Amino acid sequence: MLDSRPVSSPEPAHPARRLSGADLRVNIGAVSLKNPVIAASGTFGYGIEFAHIVDLERLGGIVTKGLSREPMAGSPPPRMREAIGGLINAIGLENIGVRAFVAEKLPRLRKYNTAIIANVFGHCVDDYVEVIRVLEDTEGLTAYELNISCPNVKRGGLEYSTTPSLTAEVVGAARRVCQRSLWVKLSPVVGNIGVISKAAESSGADAVVIANTYPALCLDAHTHRSCIGSTSGGLSGPAIKPITLRLVHEAYRVIGIPIIGLGGIQNAGDAAEYLIAGASAVGVGTAHFVDPRASERLVGDLEAWCQRENIREISSLRGSLGTRLSWSGGAQDGKIC
Ligand SMILES: Cc1cc2nc3c(=O)[nH]c(=O)nc-3n(C[C@H](O)[C@H](O)[C@H](O)COP(=O)(O)O)c2cc1C
Repeated sequence: MLDSRPVSSPEPAHPARRLSGADLRVNIGAVSLKNPVIAASGTFGYGIEFAHIVDLERLGGIVTKGLSREPMAGSPPPRMREAIGGLINAIGLENIGVRAFVAEKLPRLRKYNTAIIANVFGHCVDDYVEVIRVLEDTEGLTAYELNISCPNVKRGGLEYSTTPSLTAEVVGAARRVCQRSLWVKLSPVVGNIGVISKAAESSGADAVVIANTYPALCLDAHTHRSCIGSTSGGLSGPAIKPITLRLVHEAYRVIGIPIIGLGGIQNAGDAAEYLIAGASAVGVGTAHFVDPRASERLVGDLEAWCQRENIREISSLRGSLGTRLSWSGGAQDGKIC
């Protein structure tokens, strides 16, 4: 059965929080979020584990840990290593499997008034389709986030998001079986992010999520071993922010569907940069390892930031790069900055 929660009604699905006077609501296609801050997949458990320390209803949305057809044990330890300006992880997509999520986690999670987005992955198109089919029979989800930074075992291990045709194949198959909004999460390591984003849009994506982690290696020069169990992992955190920010802007220039931007967001300024580059909403990932309340805190910080910057509607920031005519912060006052 489909989710009964309103996602596109004349009345706002979420009342605006107006502590600072700023309207923080954003739309991701037909989905209305109470604010643009989304807890990112893999860094916020299945959401429910954070309920005792975080006001989940304060968040714009929560993306679950990646869900697969069957439970997965993940990679050998150590699975995480701090790097300069970030984190290298190789969790190996450990998860309880889609059916256990539906039975054990979702019934508690859906009681909270926030958007719940199920992150879905697989190693062949049938895997993705099967996970979505199981989730389609449930209530309480707002959207799917398709993680297509996964190797396709039927095509020599090539990641789906590395070519437009593989992207179109998996997104098109997911689109055909799902009624809910379909967000497609891309790898940052692609030849042309515009081409891949366009392929996702043309195949039925309602939004793209830019981006996942960057393949990385960290070694111990003394032992000549990798610092993490599965040799290489994915780099996230502040170190990747400038690179991912550019990807968001590149995609924004060529697609019409909304973008959710994430990579290294720690504070309101970081989030605003993503919105200005073209994102409609933002994700917070690695910052949760520094402060489990990072995404909740960011909502308050964005309210204060909007007040300081005299922004009445946060959605007006979207894609505003280069459009501000006055700047009161220094010598360039009055000039385009
Ligand atoms: C420990 C960890 C686990 C992650 N697991 C997933 C996952 O299961 N699925 C997914 O799509 N992304 C996963 N990611 C990627 C994040 O959702 C996010 O795209 C990336 O870390 C960049 O954002 P950040 O710099 O704010 O962390 C994971 C990231 C980390 C650090």
